[in-house]
Amino acid sequence: MTLELRKLSYSLGAEVCDVDVASPMSEAQFGEIYQAFLDNGILLFRGDREITREQHIDFSRRFGELDRHDALPRDRHPDYPEILLVTNEPKPDGSPSDSRYTGRQWHSDMSFTLVPSLGSLLRGITIPEVGGDTVFANMYLAYETLSDGMKNMIRDLHGIQLSGTRKVNNVESGTQRREEQKKLNPPVAQPVVRVHPETGRKALYLGDKVKRFDGMTESESKPIIKYLNEHATRFEFIYRHQWRKNDIIVWDNRCTMHLALGDFDETQRRHMERTTVLGTPSGYVVENA
Ligand code: SIN
Repeated sequence: MTLELRKLSYSLGAEVCDVDVASPMSEAQFGEIYQAFLDNGILLFRGDREITREQHIDFSRRFGELDRHDALPRDRHPDYPEILLVTNEPKPDGSPSDSRYTGRQWHSDMSFTLVPSLGSLLRGITIPEVGGDTVFANMYLAYETLSDGMKNMIRDLHGIQLSGTRKVNNVESGTQRREEQKKLNPPVAQPVVRVHPETGRKALYLGDKVKRFDGMTESESKPIIKYLNEHATRFEFIYRHQWRKNDIIVWDNRCTMHLALGDFDETQRRHMERTTVLGTPSGYVVENA
């Protein structure tokens, strides 16, 4: 098979044409897909039909071992721990979904754990009439376009990543949840410059979960974090995806970050399901962060 790819934007992403992720695929066929994943940072599969959760999990397993989401127990599917729900569908008792604001900050999945994710596969199941877009940033480009002075300054820094930091319009989405998350996932420091284990390229590793650098105060760190995050998310470095039902996007968490936009009518439903591929161990726990 020679994979037919269509670039999604200047900075990152490609659509994989004419591949049904739920059909049997040889090692060689998957090898081409995996190479395209490494080359493009994100891949889009436009699904013509709805696939089952089992098929979503099976395809995801081709990328590596799957996370069972022990770090996010409230958001995982009750019957499929490999599936994380990102939904504003109320719970069976009518209370609001815990995951309705998931991803509303720039982040890379599971950066707040000691095993940050290799990649994630998100499936669009119910999409609002307009909006509910996801934006992706190319963190290789973000790093490579910094000045040598800035590269030197951040070379050995570690960013302290906090879980449970979701906020929407400055309204925090649940004190109880935040406290639970802190207990479950103590603050972890991750290198600000990560070398991608497969491509060998350097990428910036930051986002809105980073509150300060290890060994520096919050006021010292904040202006640099703000600068780097703004630099990484310049229009030239991003791709904004408008979802269609049955789309699947797989992204490489080691060289991209992403943001779920709240640009839709929240009375409409948005239901997405994600699998998360385990990465290699990285970072260390920070006491008294
Ligand atoms: C996520 O951050 O994993 C979810 C992104 C989205 O719902 O668009």
